[in-house]
Amino acid sequence: MKTLTVALPGRAYDIRIERGLLEKAGEAVREACPKAKRLFVVTDSNVLPLYLGRVADSLKKAGFQVICHSFAAGEKAKCAENLVALWEKMMAAGLTRTDGVVALGGGVVGDLAGFAAATILRGVDYIQIPTTLLAQVDSSVGGKVAIDLQAGKNLAGAFWQPKLVLMDPDTLDTLTDATFSGGMAEVIKYGCIWDKNFFDFLAARPSRAQIMADIEHVLYTCCDVKRQVVEEDERDTGKRMLLNFGHTVGHAFELAGHYTEWSHGEAVAAGMCVAARLGVALGVTDTAVPQDILNVAASLGLPTHIDCGWETMVQAVGLDKKRTGDDITMILLERIGKAKPVKMKKDVLLEHLNAIYGR
Ligand code: GLY
Repeated sequence: MKTLTVALPGRAYDIRIERGLLEKAGEAVREACPKAKRLFVVTDSNVLPLYLGRVADSLKKAGFQVICHSFAAGEKAKCAENLVALWEKMMAAGLTRTDGVVALGGGVVGDLAGFAAATILRGVDYIQIPTTLLAQVDSSVGGKVAIDLQAGKNLAGAFWQPKLVLMDPDTLDTLTDATFSGGMAEVIKYGCIWDKNFFDFLAARPSRAQIMADIEHVLYTCCDVKRQVVEEDERDTGKRMLLNFGHTVGHAFELAGHYTEWSHGEAVAAGMCVAARLGVALGVTDTAVPQDILNVAASLGLPTHIDCGWETMVQAVGLDKKRTGDDITMILLERIGKAKPVKMKKDVLLEHLNAIYGR
């Protein structure tokens, strides 16, 4: 078992990583939420038949009254309508401020349930039990919770830290290869922005089976980077922006594929390849970096090039949240393991992207 503590003042919480942890969820939640009587468990139609029974049984054994709510799986679930439905059901179930919410599932479940927890009764405790690789290494840690609006993804949200994060690596066994690879894009990202040794470790394990053989180390390393970043910059005004490496261009790919053709991870993988070439073009990035990233991404089944059309690229750059007026902050690498924010004019970015990516 591995444990990390996210040491935010007054809101410290543990991340626990252990095979078989779902069965022990009750004891762990009891420790983190000693006053809670009821737990409102949110999950989706994919996860419900796989893991809800085990988690609910464990929570009940620990003395909690458990209320479950499930919605149809998919990004579309992260909408205002489902949020309101959750609020109403939480109130109908008699949830009080000392009770808790449990998010059991991937990033969509965590974001929606977390935002409901952040807002119901002006905020109740919640526990993340992420069951996808992407949620385990990224979205379940750090307290960003949100729903999507018609104007874009994650536009209504909050920073609301969980009380506890429980990761059972065994839950990754039921992911499709494509979903597993999507999560690997974020794993590779941590190597790129923070830890050259970890990048080399991934490069030496070019298959899902090899990664799974060391999955506790992989999860721990990624969450440890995220922990350090969040402790220094919870509100995403400085260091946390480094986690955006590959995301600006990645968002263009997601947009072009109407959020269905390319998963977030696939788009980020191709986005990291473009960002690396952009860094070389700007003289910021070591020239060997693009090929190194491409090799690792390709070996783990991720796309390294996506054609999104120039209009979509321009639109996505205009929508980027790391934009202020005409300026945009791109996250570039100096070398593998060392990222830095580079502020530039949007037009200059587009000129360079046009040169390396083409119309
Ligand atoms: N997923 C990026 C962040 O948590 O800041």
